[in-house]
Amino acid sequence: MKILVFDDAPAVGLRLGSYLADIVAARAELVLGLPTGRTPLPLYAALRQITTTRGLSWAGVRTFNLDEFVGVAPDAPGSYRAYMQRELFGPVGIPADHVGFLDGTAADLDAECRRYEAAIAAAGGMDVLVLGIGTNGHIGFNEPAPALHARTHRAALQAATRASNAGQFGGDVTCVPAEALSMGMATILEAKEILLMATGAGKAPVVRQLRDGGITTALPASFLQLHGNVSLWLDAAAADV
Ligand code: PGA
Repeated sequence: MKILVFDDAPAVGLRLGSYLADIVAARAELVLGLPTGRTPLPLYAALRQITTTRGLSWAGVRTFNLDEFVGVAPDAPGSYRAYMQRELFGPVGIPADHVGFLDGTAADLDAECRRYEAAIAAAGGMDVLVLGIGTNGHIGFNEPAPALHARTHRAALQAATRASNAGQFGGDVTCVPAEALSMGMATILEAKEILLMATGAGKAPVVRQLRDGGITTALPASFLQLHGNVSLWLDAAAADV
């Protein structure tokens, strides 16, 4: 795993934004996997800024997000779909028909997971996938457990994960759904290139385990060690340097 360390979270966002913008500019067609949460906010801010200053076109980009809450409609303010519309899709001009998203209000959630896998495959798989990491080592909503899921699936959210998502629901953890839909471990590991962002001292313990520990379902992110093209984009606090 390649490890890149920058001074602070805004610097991580700027450097990763610049790296991704170069890829968007260079490729006529690009399939991007994208995360939500607090960590990627500086990345999306940087991409909005670079798009304006460079006149970057996103016309050839198709996106797939990692996950979505069950029971939250795409246009509800707490949905990850609404987050992405606000932070990236709207401002840089990615049209809805280039956006792949799980629908947590689908009548048949298992069928929705299968539809998503098929849509990613039909797009030719993800060229570049940006990931965050939970303080419990989750990627997407692949939570630590005795066994992990290979494919897109329904995931029960752990208490730490619900607590860290309370901000999306007016700060009230009881309003955070207990379940989500998430890409699985194989879905993630099939991306051609993986860029994992982690910022802040709270992520330092899990980053240390990811870097130095073995591969274990107790730390789903540790499976990234099996992938040949992963880089960690860290600030000094998360890298603990
Ligand atoms: P965060 O979430 O960016 O809000 O810390 C990361 C994650 O849970 O993947």
